[in-house]
Amino acid sequence: MFRPLPGATDRRIDALLTLLADNPMLVISGAKIAGEIGVSRSSVWRWVQMLRSLGVRVKGHPRSGYQLDRIPDALMPQMLRRRLHGTLFGRRVHHFFKVDSTNTAALRLAHEGEPHGSVIVAEEQTAGRGRTGRAWHSEKSAGIYMTVVLRPPLVPSQAPLLTLLAGLAVRDAVAEQTGLHPDLRWPNDVLLRNRKFCGILTEMHAEPDRVHFVIVGIGINVNNARLPEDLDSVATSLRMESGRAHSRLDLLVRLLRSLDRYYNQFLTDGAAAVIDRFAAVSSFARGKRVRVATVNGAYTGTTAGLDSSGLLRVVRDDGSATMVVAGDVTEAT
Ligand code: BTN
Repeated sequence: MFRPLPGATDRRIDALLTLLADNPMLVISGAKIAGEIGVSRSSVWRWVQMLRSLGVRVKGHPRSGYQLDRIPDALMPQMLRRRLHGTLFGRRVHHFFKVDSTNTAALRLAHEGEPHGSVIVAEEQTAGRGRTGRAWHSEKSAGIYMTVVLRPPLVPSQAPLLTLLAGLAVRDAVAEQTGLHPDLRWPNDVLLRNRKFCGILTEMHAEPDRVHFVIVGIGINVNNARLPEDLDSVATSLRMESGRAHSRLDLLVRLLRSLDRYYNQFLTDGAAAVIDRFAAVSSFARGKRVRVATVNGAYTGTTAGLDSSGLLRVVRDDGSATMVVAGDVTEAT
C-alpha cells in the first residue's frame, strides 16, 4: 500500500498539474478536470487555487476552464514515473514541495518498510543535510534534492560502492544533458572547474553481515543564479557553468535512468566494473596531490588508485601508504 508521509504532495495536485502540463495549449474544462483527477466539480476551483498558492501559474476560471501559463519545471511523481517506466525507480515516487530533508524522510520511510527503488524528491529542503553534520543549501526549485531507498544484497563493507556508483550516474546524466564534463572527487563530490555542484550522502541501516537498507541522497545545484557568499569559492551550479538554465525534470530522469543502469551492472558484473570506471574518469583517483582531513587531524599526499573495495590509496608525503576510509579529500594547494 502506498502510504504518503505527512506533508507529501497530494495525489490530486500531482494529477492536476500533470493533466495541465500534458495539454499546455488547451483550456481544460472544470468538468474534465474533476473527472480526471477524481474530485467534485465544485471543488476544482479550490484545487486550482492550491496549485497557484504553490507558485504554479494557471490561467482561467470556473466558467471558461483552466490552462497553464507556463509549464513549471516541477519534479512531479506522475511525470517521473511515466518517464522511468521499466526501471527500478519507476514505481514509487514521494514528492514534497517543502520538506526538512529527503534523507530524513527516506530514513523514516525505510524504517517502516519502504520498498527497494522508492524515490523521495523535494522542491525545497529546510534542513538539507551534508556529510559530517554540514548543512546542504537547498534553494526552492533551483536544485534537485532527491533520495533513493535501496535494499541491496550486499554486506555492509560494500555499501560505500553505492556512493561511487551514484557519482558516476550524476556525471553521465550531467554530461548528456549539458555537454559539460564533470570531475569526481572521491568519494562523493561532483565538480566543475574544481567547484562542487553535487554532493551525495549515503546512509545505511545494517547488521554486521547484512544490509537492511541504504539510502542515497543526491543534491545538485542546477539553476541557482548565485550561491551564498560562504560557498562562493568552493561551489557552483550547472547554470553558472553553462550560462543557461536546465530542465530539472529531464536531468532527474537521466540521473535515475543512469543510476538504474549502473546499479544493475554492479549486481551482475561486480564491484570491479564500478571501481574501474570511477578510476578512469576521476582526476582524483591517481597522481593528485591531496589534503585528507580526518577526525584525528589532516595530512597531505598523492593519490595512488582505488582498492577492490573502492577505498582511496594515498601515499603520504612521509612515504607511508594509507587507505582513506573516511575523511574529506581536497586538492592540496
Ligand atoms: C555532501 O556533499 O556533504 C552531501 C550532500 C547531500 C545533499 C543531499 S540533498 C538530498 C539529500 N537530502 C539531504 O538532506 N541531503 C541529501
